[in-house]
Amino acid sequence: TANETTSHENVGRLFASAKNIMVITGAGISTNAGIPDFRSKGGIYSQLGEYNLDSPEDMFHIDTFKSNPKPFYSFAKSLVSKTTWTPTRCHKFIKLLELKGKLLRNYTQNIDGLEKMSGISSSKVFQCHGSFASASCTVCKFKTSFEGIRSNLESGVVMTCPKCYEKKDGIMKPDIVFFGENVASKFDTLLLSDLKKVDFFVVIGSSLQISPVAKIIQQLPLKVPKLLVNKELLSPSISFDYCLQGDCDDIVESICKYLDWDLRIGE
Ligand code: OAD
Repeated sequence: TANETTSHENVGRLFASAKNIMVITGAGISTNAGIPDFRSKGGIYSQLGEYNLDSPEDMFHIDTFKSNPKPFYSFAKSLVSKTTWTPTRCHKFIKLLELKGKLLRNYTQNIDGLEKMSGISSSKVFQCHGSFASASCTVCKFKTSFEGIRSNLESGVVMTCPKCYEKKDGIMKPDIVFFGENVASKFDTLLLSDLKKVDFFVVIGSSLQISPVAKIIQQLPLKVPKLLVNKELLSPSISFDYCLQGDCDDIVESICKYLDWDLRIGE
């Protein structure tokens, strides 16, 4: 029955036979790398008390940023200063799917860049919520690379726009997608084409609460099996065919053991 936990063997068989796996990932696949997720106890949204926000999600709302970018810059400082992150077994598992020729696409909601660090090809990852790789002015859209904003992010000092701040108060914002902003339009075209090919749908480490990623599951052809790998089960209104509940790294490791796949990529 839907949303009941299943065995690794059942799921292993699906990984063995699938040819075009769509993997949706969220913050849960990076917690073992030392990066907190958002909504778990102790997650990022429980750590924002000092900023006096009406709601923790306001930290990542474009209107909040435009009226006062300082809280985000302080937050970014804590994020960017950590350079010791390494990909988890889950990231390696996704890379392994690519090496096996089975990865259709990894739609990630994460902005930590661990997918690329694990060697997953850029063409196989779509960073739905953008990345820190570049930054743009909130007013005139002047763009700079990460290097152009790095010292500000590291020091937590707000970067004003070198082109328009004098006249228009433009502020530089990393190109991560905030609430109140649209996901890049490439998402729609890529998804439309991937929905025609996908033969196995896998969500790992996400509470699946934020659209448009949360809505992908509703657009899948009915015949596509849907698997959730997560510490917690999600609302019964989100209907999966298979659920493996627990630590995602331990789960992918058992799946690999069953399949006799070697997860030690790049070690
Ligand atoms: P959430 O924090 O909402 O959900 C993370 C999920 O991963 C939770 O269901 C956890 O139980 C689970 N989890 C945590 N550690 C795990 C582990 N080691 N093994 C298995 N499961 C684990 O994070 P997201 O779903 O990624 O967007 O959040 C989606 C978006 O909401 C984020 O991209 C961000 C946020 O607001 C923006 O800021 C625009």
